[in-house]
Amino acid sequence: MAQIRFIQPDGTENVVEIADSGTSVMLAAIRNGISGIDAECGGCLDCATCHVYVEEGASGLLAPPQPEELELLGSVAAPRKSNSRLSCQLKLPPSITSLIVHIPEAQS
Ligand code: FES
Repeated sequence: MAQIRFIQPDGTENVVEIADSGTSVMLAAIRNGISGIDAECGGCLDCATCHVYVEEGASGLLAPPQPEELELLGSVAAPRKSNSRLSCQLKLPPSITSLIVHIPEAQS
C-alpha cells in the first residue's frame, strides 16, 4: 500500500492510496477524481496533459524519465521545472510508500 499526496496550485491536498505499485500516478489521480490532471491521451505519451511536479527529494528514488517523456515534457503548458514529470509514466517502486506531487496551474 502506498500513498500519493496531490497538492493543487491553491494548496488544497488530496491523499490517494494505491495497493498496486504498477498503477501510474496519472491513473491513481483519474480513478480518484483528482482535478488538474487531464490525461487526454489516456497514458499513451502523446498529450503532456498529465504534467506534475514531484516533491524535491523523491525524484532520485523514481525511475528516471525515458527519452520520449523528456521530449514530450517540452510541450507542457505550465512552466517546465527540473522536477517536472508526466504522471502517466510515473510508477512507485515497492521501496516508496509515499509520494507528494504538485499539480501545475494549467495542462493545456
Ligand atoms: S496522459 Fe498523455 S502524456 Fe500522460
